[in-house]
Amino acid sequence: MNKTPISRKSFIRLAAMLGAGSAIASVLSACSGGGQGSSGSDDEQSTQASGGGGDTTTAQAAGPDVSSGQVIAQESEVPANSALAFIDTDLGQPGVLVHLSSGDFVAYSAVCTHRGCTVSYQPQTQQLACPCHGSVFDPTHDAAVVQGPAATPLAKIDTELQSGKVILT
Ligand code: FES
Repeated sequence: MNKTPISRKSFIRLAAMLGAGSAIASVLSACSGGGQGSSGSDDEQSTQASGGGGDTTTAQAAGPDVSSGQVIAQESEVPANSALAFIDTDLGQPGVLVHLSSGDFVAYSAVCTHRGCTVSYQPQTQQLACPCHGSVFDPTHDAAVVQGPAATPLAKIDTELQSGKVILT
């Protein structure tokens, strides 16, 4: 039991070091807690981003921005049973030009009448489908609702075929 005497000066230095260590530990703890809070915030943001659901994956080519009188596409650019997405700048909305298997071209607003998600053409079913809540529209019958929850057809966009070009009218 060998007791080493400690000077007042050494005691004060040791106490200062312990105090500093404690302060650093407190700061690190606070930072760590803040990090968790920040991380939680990031989680909320990513949940919000993925929960938005407004954006959709389209099963069709992306076309141009067009206004009335302009060409949406050359007839040859859109094979039968396929579609081309475009922006109708007059309406300020996405549209979808569908080349039906019959050979006719039809165009509709791509804005789902349920809650506004973007529909896309499905060649397998030859219908326009909304990825948000499952509404389905029939492009061969004025985009009539085949399956809800949408209750009304997609809005028709008038087009005309002139010299092998599909024109927004
Ligand atoms: Fe299209 Fe709901 S937004 S089905």
